Amino acid sequence: MTPGLGAVATTFMAGVESVRRGYSLPIGSLTQMATIRLGKRTENRAPLIKDLVPLASLDDLVFGAWDPFPDDAYTAACKAGVLERAHIERVAEFLRGITPLPAAFDNKYVTRINGPNVKRGKTKRDLAEQIRQDIRDFKSRHKVDRVVVVWCASTEIYIKAGAAHATLEQFEKAMERNDEAIAPSMLYAYAALMEGVPFANGAPNLTVDMPCLVQLAKDRAVPISGKDFKTGQTWMKTVIGPGIKARMLGLAGWYSTNILGNRDGEVLDDPASFKTKEESKLSVLHSILQPETHPALYGDFSHVVRINYYKPRGDNKEGWDNIDIVGWMGYPMQIKVNFLCRDSILAAPLVLDLALFSDFAHRSGLKGIQEWLSFYYKSPMAASGLQPEHDLFIQQTKLKNTLRHLAGEEQITHLGLEYYS
Ligand SMILES: NC(=O)c1ccc[n+]([C@@H]2O[C@H](COP(=O)([O-])OP(=O)(O)OC[C@H]3O[C@@H](n4cnc5c(N)ncnc54)[C@H](O)[C@@H]3O)[C@@H](O)[C@H]2O)c1
Repeated sequence: MTPGLGAVATTFMAGVESVRRGYSLPIGSLTQMATIRLGKRTENRAPLIKDLVPLASLDDLVFGAWDPFPDDAYTAACKAGVLERAHIERVAEFLRGITPLPAAFDNKYVTRINGPNVKRGKTKRDLAEQIRQDIRDFKSRHKVDRVVVVWCASTEIYIKAGAAHATLEQFEKAMERNDEAIAPSMLYAYAALMEGVPFANGAPNLTVDMPCLVQLAKDRAVPISGKDFKTGQTWMKTVIGPGIKARMLGLAGWYSTNILGNRDGEVLDDPASFKTKEESKLSVLHSILQPETHPALYGDFSHVVRINYYKPRGDNKEGWDNIDIVGWMGYPMQIKVNFLCRDSILAAPLVLDLALFSDFAHRSGLKGIQEWLSFYYKSPMAASGLQPEHDLFIQQTKLKNTLRHLAGEEQITHLGLEYYS
C-alpha cells in the first residue's frame, strides 16, 4: 500500500503489471534480476537473489493507495506523464481498478497541493485510527496475509524531531492535541507499525525516523527503513564520491543543479519542502568523504544543491554536476556530469525491492531499522549515535551479506586465493 498515487507509485504499479503480463522486464530491480555470489569463486555458485531467499512473487502482489486526489491509477498515470500512452493503455483496466482511499492530508505540510479526497476527524489520532482500519479492510477485501506500506507521497515541510517524537506516550498525546509537530506521514507510519506492517519511507520527511517510532518498530518486531529513494543525482554522487575517496584525491567543491517539471518538482519549489530535500541531499558527501579523518583532502569543500521547477521538462529531469577535484601537488581538475534521467523510472524498481525485502525481513524476524536497505536511500536511517553508510558499494556488500546470512550462507570476504591452501 502506498500513501501517494502519483508519478512514482503509478509507474511502479503499471510496471509490475507489465512484467506480469510479459510486456516488460523488471529492469533496475535487484529482487528480480540480480544474482548473488555464494561460497568460493571456484564453486561457481551465483543464483538469482529471488532463488536464494523466499521473496513474495510478483503474481502475489495486490496494490492499494491513499491520495488527496481521487483519480484512479490510470488517470493518475496519464496525468503524471511518465509512461507513454501505449504502455498505460495495455494495462488500463488493471490501473483503473486501483482507486485511492481518502488521505490523511493537511495542506500546511505540503503547501502546493490541495485535494478533496481527505479523511475527516477531530484529532490526528482519529486519522491514524482510520488508516489502521483501512489496512485491516484492505487485507480482508483482497484476502492478503501480509501488507507493506511504502511512502510514495509528496515531500512534506522540514520538521526536526523534538519532544513530541521522543516517546510513544508523548507522540500519542501530541496526536490527540493536534500538535503541529505531527505531520500526516507520521500518522501512516504509526498506523502501519500498530498493525504490525513494515514501513519504508521514500521521501526525506522524518515520518518514521524518530525515537518513538523506531522503538515502536522494535517492540512490535516490525522492519522500518528510509529515507528518500536514492535515484538520480544522489545515486551518481554515491558512485563517484567513493571513487574520488578511494584514490585519495581531494575535493574543492561539488555543485549540483537540476531542472524538473513534475508535481514533485512543483512541491519542491516551495522552500519549506525543498529544505527537507536539501538536508537529505547534502548529507551524502560528508559521510562518504569523512573530512574529520582527511582534513587535508576534504576539510573545506563547498557543496551546493539546487532544484529548479521547470514545467516543460516534466518527469524527465536533467541534472548537472560540476565537481572540482584536486590531484598530485594540488593541481585542480574538473568532472562534469550531465544526467538526463527519468525520475520515476529509476524510483519504481526501488519501491518493488523495498516492498519485497521489507516483507522478507519481517518474516525472517528482523525488526527496527533495516540498515541493509540503506542501498535504496539518499539519507539512510541508522541506529542512534551511528553515522549512516552512504557509499553505494559498501551498502551493496551489506545488502548481499545480509541475504547470505539469512540464507545460512558464508559471508564473502574477497580474500585472494593465495590465502586458501
Ligand atoms: N522519483 C524519484 O526519483 C524520487 C526520488 C526520491 C524521492 N522521491 C519522493 O517520492 C515522492 C513521490 O514522488 P512523485 O514523483 O511520485 O510525486 P507526485 O507528486 O507525482 O506524487 C505524490 C502524490 O502524493 C500525494 N500526497 C501528498 N500528500 C499525501 C498524503 N498526506 N497522503 C497521501 N497522499 C499524499 C499527492 O497528491 C501526489 O499525488 C516524493 O516525496 C518525492 O520527493 C522521488
